[in-house]
Amino acid sequence: MALSPPPDQDIVVVGATGDLSARKLLPALYNLSHEGLLPGHGRIVGAAPVDLEQAGFTEFARHAVESFSRNRPTRSAMAVFLRRLQFVRLDPAAKLTDLRTALTRERRLLYLAVPPSAFAPLITDLGAAGLAEGTSLIIEKPFGHDLSSARKLNDTIHSVLPEQCVFRIDHYLGKETVQNLLVFRFGNSIFERVWDRDAISRVEITVAESLGVEQRGEFYEQTGAIRDIVQNHLFQVLAITAMEPPVSFDAEALRNEKIKVLQALQPLDPGHVVRGQYTAGTVDGKRVRGYRHEPGVAPRSETETFAAMRMSIDSWRWSGVPFFLRTGKRMAMRDTRIVITFRDVPLHLFAGTDVDDVDCNRMIIRIQPDEGISVSFVAKVPGAEVRVQPVSMNFAYGASFKTSPPEAYERLRHDALDGDHTLFIREDEVERGWAVVQPVLDHPGAVVQYRAGSWGPDEADALLAPLPWHDPGEGGSP
Ligand code: BG6
Repeated sequence: MALSPPPDQDIVVVGATGDLSARKLLPALYNLSHEGLLPGHGRIVGAAPVDLEQAGFTEFARHAVESFSRNRPTRSAMAVFLRRLQFVRLDPAAKLTDLRTALTRERRLLYLAVPPSAFAPLITDLGAAGLAEGTSLIIEKPFGHDLSSARKLNDTIHSVLPEQCVFRIDHYLGKETVQNLLVFRFGNSIFERVWDRDAISRVEITVAESLGVEQRGEFYEQTGAIRDIVQNHLFQVLAITAMEPPVSFDAEALRNEKIKVLQALQPLDPGHVVRGQYTAGTVDGKRVRGYRHEPGVAPRSETETFAAMRMSIDSWRWSGVPFFLRTGKRMAMRDTRIVITFRDVPLHLFAGTDVDDVDCNRMIIRIQPDEGISVSFVAKVPGAEVRVQPVSMNFAYGASFKTSPPEAYERLRHDALDGDHTLFIREDEVERGWAVVQPVLDHPGAVVQYRAGSWGPDEADALLAPLPWHDPGEGGSP
C-alpha cells in the first residue's frame, strides 16, 4: 500500500539539538519531506533549552541531514525542508508554555528526544501548559527502568493523554525485515503449517552487535543488555515470530496477538540466564578495550553487555519448544537473526551419513545486515554412492529488491503522523515485558566475562548444550 501525506499538523521535537535528533529524527524528517510524506501544512518546531538562534538551528539541521541522511540531500529539497523549521528556546521556568506561540495548527505530533529521566516532568508540563488537547506523543525507549517505574510512567502519561495519543517506539518494528516476518508468515500458505511444536524443536533469536557502548557508558551503566535490548527489541521479535494470525492488520488486532504471546511467555528464571561483560579483544581487526575501561563505566561494574537466556511460551502452539534469546555488544560481528530448527526425521534412513550429525532442516531469518531468509535441507551428493549433504535455498533482499529500504525512523514517524499504532508498543506490552524480566532484575547473579570479538561467554553455550548456538557461517549457511 503506497503511503500518502498525513493530515495537517505541526511536528515538535523536544530535545532537537541532541544526538538522537541529529542522527535519526532530522534526517528522517528531511527524507519524508523529500518524498512528499509530511503533512502539507504545519511547522517543524525544534525545541531545546539551549542558547541558540534560528539561524544556528537551521545550520545544525542542515549539517545533521548532510551527515546522516540515507539519501544524499538535494539543494532544492533541503531548502524546502529548512524553510519549515522553527526553533524555540525553551526556558525551563516556562514549563513548555513557550511552545505555544510557535504552533500553527490545532494538532501536533510531539517527539520527546530527551533523556528518560525528563519524560515524566515534560509530560506533566505539557498538561499544565494546556497543550494536551491536540497532542500525540512519541516516546522513546527505555520506557521505565523496571515494572513499577514503567507503570508509574504509564500513569503519568494517562493523567495527561489517552492511550490512543501515545506512540511508544521500538525501532525494531520499523525495520523492513521485522515487518516482513508478518508477510512471510501470514502471506504464504506453506510456512504456517509447520510453525508449531509439532514441527519445530527450538527457536534461537540473536541480536549481536560488534559495537561497544561507544560514548554511552554512563547511560549503559544504568541500563545493561536486558533493559536495553531484551525487554523490548528481542521480545518484540519473539512476539511476531510466535504470534497467532491476527484477524486483520488493524493495530489493535495485531497488538492483541502480540500481547497474548507475551502473557504466555514465562517470567525469566535467573537460573536460565547468563549475563556477560566484554573484556579487551579484537573486533573487525582492531584492538578494543574492555567494558570496565570504557568512559563513564565503573571499574568494578557488574552491568551486563551480553545476555543469553532459555525461555518458554506456555501456549497450545509452543508448549515444550525452548526459545533461546541472546544479545551482546562487542561480539564477533553485527548480526540479528532468527533461527528455527525443525524436528528430526522420525526414521534415520541415512544412518551413518552426515544427516545423522546435523539438524537437517533449519530456517534462518536474517534481520540485519545481509537481510534475507534461507532454508537448509539435505541433498544427495551426485555420484554412485548415497551420500547426503546439507544445502540451502536463499532469498536475499539485496538481490530481489534493488532498492534501499527506508530508515526505521522514517516509517515510524510517518505512521505516528498518520495516527497508525500498528508498529508501536501498547501499554500492556511494555508492562508485560518488564514483568517477564523482573525476576532477573531482582536477582541478577554474577556477571561473567567474554572476550570482545567472540560470540559471548562459554556459560551461554551451556544453555543449549550439547547443541551449539547457530552463528553465521555455521553449517555452510549464510
Ligand atoms: C538501541 C540500543 O535501542 O538499539 C542500542 O539502545 C543498540 O544500545 C541499538 O545499539 C541497536 O539498534 P540497531 O538498529 O543497530 O540494531
